[in-house]
Parts: sequence; structure tokens; C-alpha cells
Amino acid sequence: MTDLWWKSAVVYQIYPRSFADADGDGMGDLRGIIDHLDHLAELGVDVIWLSPIHKSPQDDNGYDISDYQDIDPLFGDLATFDELMTAAHSRGLKLIMDLVVNHSSDEHPWFVESRSSKDNPKRDWYWWRPARDGMEAGTPGAEPTNWGSAFGGPAWEYDKETGEYYLHLFSPKQPDLNWENPEVRAAVYEMMRWWLDRGVDGFRMDVINMISKVLPLEDGRLTAGQAYADGSAGYINGPRNHEFLHEMYEQVFAGREGLLTVGEMPGVTVDEAIRFTAQDRQEVDMVFQFDHVWADRGGDPWRIFPLQLTVLKGIFGRWQAGLAEEGWNSLYWNNHDQPRVVSRYGDDSPEFRAASAKMLGTVLHLHRGTPYVYQGEELGMTNYPFASITDFRDIEALGQFRQATEIEGREAADVLTVLRARGRDNARTPMQWDDSPNGGFSTTTPWLAVNPNYPQINAKAERADPDSVFHYYRQLIKLRHEEPAVVDGDFTMLLPNDERLYAYTRRLNETELLVIGNFTGETVEAEIDGWAGAELVLSNLPANGLTMAPWQTVVYRRATT
Ligand code: GLC
Repeated sequence: MTDLWWKSAVVYQIYPRSFADADGDGMGDLRGIIDHLDHLAELGVDVIWLSPIHKSPQDDNGYDISDYQDIDPLFGDLATFDELMTAAHSRGLKLIMDLVVNHSSDEHPWFVESRSSKDNPKRDWYWWRPARDGMEAGTPGAEPTNWGSAFGGPAWEYDKETGEYYLHLFSPKQPDLNWENPEVRAAVYEMMRWWLDRGVDGFRMDVINMISKVLPLEDGRLTAGQAYADGSAGYINGPRNHEFLHEMYEQVFAGREGLLTVGEMPGVTVDEAIRFTAQDRQEVDMVFQFDHVWADRGGDPWRIFPLQLTVLKGIFGRWQAGLAEEGWNSLYWNNHDQPRVVSRYGDDSPEFRAASAKMLGTVLHLHRGTPYVYQGEELGMTNYPFASITDFRDIEALGQFRQATEIEGREAADVLTVLRARGRDNARTPMQWDDSPNGGFSTTTPWLAVNPNYPQINAKAERADPDSVFHYYRQLIKLRHEEPAVVDGDFTMLLPNDERLYAYTRRLNETELLVIGNFTGETVEAEIDGWAGAELVLSNLPANGLTMAPWQTVVYRRATT
């Protein structure tokens, strides 16, 4: 891809089941998205990324696909999808799809065939293995490796019919596809071409740095107190990952223009990301790395480690420097797997919610890279006040809770504290459109409760208030579109050892921008020279030079010589 239009673009992620329910079944749908496209056009974003809408048993809310070339009836049908795509394109919005091909659903016809017998031609499309040597198949500990799955329990499921196990890094209903098999790859590429021919503008590739496994599959490191091992050394950035993505590029993307590809890559390093995104290597345009959203995680998964701003700055600084010459960053705080950033790294109290949401947006968006806005982030939506485990719907929260409390002997209250802060359902509560019942999301009880703060925090109120988070995000997006230094400027981190202020400059030719964010509820003086008299470009509160009020952010511009 030679045309790098996405460097100045902003992407908006829609989680369809929680965006807007037009048919009144409590679940968002494609018609609901069509009805709300004007919200996105007004916000000013360039691209929509849709989380999966394919046919699916919905074990992991659609990340378990049973037909890659059809729409789940929950969301609509192909005709409505085409209508959505046309409506988006007519507003100048591109549309990218989620591509979930590390695994399929166990109800996908490929897997149904694969499990039917050991000599089925599709047997080798998935990872089948016999029990561990000397162990009786189906007994505890007989799994082929000691790996845990992401959602609790072992990463292997025993299949009585054929007496073997299949690998599932996620739920047992998400068997991993065997990318070593060229037929699998050819089938995936064909499906991708079918979507592109239909008119979609690219893909967000789910856990795409897990498709190449290290052979032979071997036991991982077991940590004391944990029931299963971390097997990630056996499947993160495996030996053929680059080869597979380059092959995909050649088979699917070569010769097509105007597309965007982004690989979701938990555990990816800066050096690997350079290799994945350097344009001349022809793999993907950008990756989602996780270091900055794991900045508040420590060794113990069931403890909260308060954010240290210097750690966060160290991470961003490394990624900005690493991908400065070759490759490209994507920038995100939120998606359907992360808690709401204003609750996580900001202050979601009524006093500081809006200010800290705007500050976090500013600090993120003005880095070098392509920003992603997750639905509701532009309203400063917050985490949900979960009272008990029965309030959660997410397979990850429920599975991990079970493993931690029932097998690993953790206190339920401790586990709940962490899930409340980190659980994925925080991001998945319905979009808050207005102050009518269910936040205007649906006319009936939604599949997951609406955050009770919807009468105060909703799109209608924010659209009417020029001082809202929504209108601030519009300015932020406009700034990327209009100021070349935001897109192409180089990046310099300032005050790396300061625990309270996040500050950096961006410079392109004679233009230099200074961005500062106060990550505290106190007034802090920024000790940065040379900016007296500079032009104020953006601020969430009345600006007073470099004196930063609680959660304040400022952006200044000056000409350099
Ligand atoms: C990705 C998705 C997540 C899903 C998992 C398995 O991390 O973002 O929602 O559960 O992959 O597909």
C-alpha cells in the first residue's frame, strides 16, 4: 500500500451489540448503526471499525465465528450490511471489519468436519493432539501441554469421540486454526478477498500475532499459586508470523488501494512491531500493542497497581522513538476489552470527569500514530458500578472468577475488586444516547445493564453543550486533520521523571507544538522554557501559561527557526 492516508485519519470503534438497538430486542444491530451515522459524521472521524457481526453462537460476543461470510441474525443480514456500507461511504466514512482467524467457532463447518474423525480431510485444520505420554486421555493433567486458556481452565479440550484434545487459547468454543496448513490460509485469504470485493476498506486482525505456534508444542512456565501455565512463549510472535502476514498481503491486499490493516498483538515488542509495520515489508499498516494499557498491571493478576506516570511515559516514549523512522503506531486508550480510561487513568468523579477525559484524549491523540476512539469515549463514559459477579456477562470475567476462586483459592472479594476495575464489561455497557429509559439505547431491557449515570452522561446532552467532552473530541480530531505537525512531526518527551505532568513536543519544519497534561487533582507548574507568548491551540480549562490546574491540558504552537 503506497498511499498512507491513514496517517491523518481517526478511527471509531463500534461494538455493535452495545451501540444502538433499532429492532427492540435489547441488543444493538446494524440498523441502529445506520440510524446513528450522523453522530460519527459530526464527530469527524474517518473510519469505522466494526467488532464482529458475523454469524456466531456468541460465546465470546461474536469473536467465535461460525460463518465468515454471513451476518448474525442478531445484527441483521447482508443486505442491511451493504446498506450500512453505502451509507457510511456516502458520508466519507470508511468501514473496516474485524478479522477473527486465529480461531473459529466450534460450530463452524470446518471444525464440525475436523472433529468428526481422525482421517477427515479437515482434521489438520485445527490443533489435535493425543493425551500426554503415559497419561490416560480425559483425566486431569493429561492435557498435551500445561497451558491455561485466556478465559480460565486449560487450553485443551478433550473430545471423547476421537479420543484426542484440541487447542483453544480462548474458550473451548474457539478452537485454534492450524495456520501451518496451507489450505487453511488459502481459505482465509479467499474469504478476505470476498469482503474486499464487497467494498469493505480493511481489517482489524484479532490476536494476529498468535497464529504461528512454536513447534513442537511444549509446556510453559508454571507460576506458584496458578493452576495452569503461561504458554505464551509457544504462540506469541511465533516463527512464521511474519511469513504468514506477508503471504496474506500478497494474496489479499497487493494491488488494492485505500485500505487500512491493523493487527491486534498482545505482547508484541517494539522491535517486532517495526518488522510488522515497515511498509516495504508488506505485512500490516499498524499494530495494537498493549504495554500502555498493562502499565497498571504487576506480577499478581489479582492486585491493582496504581498507575505510575513515569512508567506510562517510559512506555509511550519507547514506542514513539522505536517507530519514528519505520513503521507506524496506533494510539488507543479504550476498546471492548479495556475498562473506561477516565475511570482508569483519570478521575471519574463529577468534579473532574469531563476535564480528565479531555486531558487523556489530548495526550493520546497528539502522539505520532493513528488514534482510535471507542464508542462512548467521546462522551467520557465511565466504568460500571458492578455490585456482584452476577452483574457480569463477559466470558472472561466469569471464567477467570471461577478459576481464581474455585481452583486457586482466591478471596471472591479481592477478585471482584480487580474485575470491577478491569473487567471488559465496563466497556460493553450500552451506549448512552439520551436521558430516556435505557439511555435511549433500546426500548427494552438491554442484554447488559446501562450505566446508571446515563441521565447525566449522554450524547444528546453533550451535543447540546459546547463545553462537553464530545465537542472537545471534535476539536481534537479536527486538529489532526488540519495541523501537519500532528501527523508528521517528530516527537520529543519532556519531563520524563515527573510523576504529575505528561509533556511532549511535536515538530515539523518551522512548526512546533507543546502538549501538556496534568494527571493529578492539584495545580502544578510546568517548568518548560521558551514558550512564553506561544499561540494557544487547545485547552480544556481557561489557560494560564504553563500553570496547570487539576487535570488541565494545554496545547501551544510556536514557530521555530
Ligand atoms: C481479542 C478480542 C477479544 C476476544 C479475543 C479472542 O483479544 O479483542 O475480545 O475475546 O481476542 O477472540
